[in-house]
Amino acid sequence: MICLGIETSCDETSIAFVEDGNQIRANLISSQVEIHQLYGGVVPEIASRKHLENLNVLLDEALREAKLSWKQIEIVAATRGPGLVGALLVGVAAAKSIALGLNVPFIGVNHLVGHVYANFLEHPDLKFPFLALIVSGGHTSLVLLKEHLVFETLGTTRDDAAGEAFDKVARIFDLGYPGGPIIDKLAQKGNPRAIEFPRALLGSDSLDFSFSGLKTAVMNWKKNGDLNHYPIEDLSASFQEAVVDVLVEKVRRAILATGVKTVVLAGGVACNTGLRARLNALADDYHVKLHHPSPRLCTDNAAMIACAGTFQYWKGAKDELDADVTPPMAPLERLTCINSQIFASPHLFSSPKLFIIIEVQEVEGLCKEKEPINLSLVLSSLFSSGFIKA
Ligand code: KG4
Ligand code: ZN
Repeated sequence: MICLGIETSCDETSIAFVEDGNQIRANLISSQVEIHQLYGGVVPEIASRKHLENLNVLLDEALREAKLSWKQIEIVAATRGPGLVGALLVGVAAAKSIALGLNVPFIGVNHLVGHVYANFLEHPDLKFPFLALIVSGGHTSLVLLKEHLVFETLGTTRDDAAGEAFDKVARIFDLGYPGGPIIDKLAQKGNPRAIEFPRALLGSDSLDFSFSGLKTAVMNWKKNGDLNHYPIEDLSASFQEAVVDVLVEKVRRAILATGVKTVVLAGGVACNTGLRARLNALADDYHVKLHHPSPRLCTDNAAMIACAGTFQYWKGAKDELDADVTPPMAPLERLTCINSQIFASPHLFSSPKLFIIIEVQEVEGLCKEKEPINLSLVLSSLFSSGFIKA
């Protein structure tokens, strides 16, 4: 079974073809990091426009690399959320249009489910039950899976995600974006015991996380001018050690609480060399198996989405073509700016079809307040600008 996977939740456009749930035929990732670096973080509007530019090019390239034709695609899976609404809309609209054109099922995939399922790409024999430590830029959770696609959340972050903490600390010291890989590299040359930062363990049996206190401690430490006495390598190593200590302790508690014999890592922070080394040692001590996807499959990629989508399909899931994206909801009164985009796949259809993506953006103070979404206005402006004809 060939699944086309599409991932556009943040700043990576990715297209993959995965056969039978775990054989990667192609997994192309076009990163926008260089563009967003200029702003110190992801700019949602730029991200969605870049996805739109990249998607068709990557699709053609991936088909060529996988040596597949359109007709061989049997299901289409795309990330529905969480993520940036405009970015998600581009991938989901593309996936639905391809599914419609080919008359195959469309499957919407939760991005975090995708991260966990990246483990099945390299460890198809992964056995249930297992614990998953999900550590990405936006989420930090410990979940238990006793069977396919049934997630029991044991703990989650009360404030910042682990990756967010890395990114924010890197920003405090102007180290660059994304902060995780930069701090990881610096930390390898530093002393992890040079500076004692706080570890929020939240009580003796809590499996929740909190990283905002650590970030504030780093900020205060900078304000006090201590950087003159310590190189940035020591700062990085000490900060990373504080994050890793907490993550490892929570995994240790979860192993004891559940008695599981397998732990998997998921999400971008799972690339962290310090975290991997410490969890490997923990796994040895507690006689559990530890799996972590290779770095390219830890960070955002479409192969993990195609993998999860295939398992969802095997479990009987199929989404309607009116299924919406599922970003976290912004309060309605802050949705003030309307912007339209067009995605067309003329090569897929005998008669041309057009998909219009209406992007509602959270831009404060830029537009008239509480402007309602007026579809006929958007359509008439597309007619008058010559984009579409009657
Ligand atoms: O999973 P991911 O690619 O995107 C999200 O779903 O958020 O994760 C991106 C996050 C960023 O915060 C980035 O700084 C972090 O993963 N990251 C790392 C490393 N590589 C990426 N954090 C620590 N060490 C790394 N080597
Ligand atoms: Zn991710």
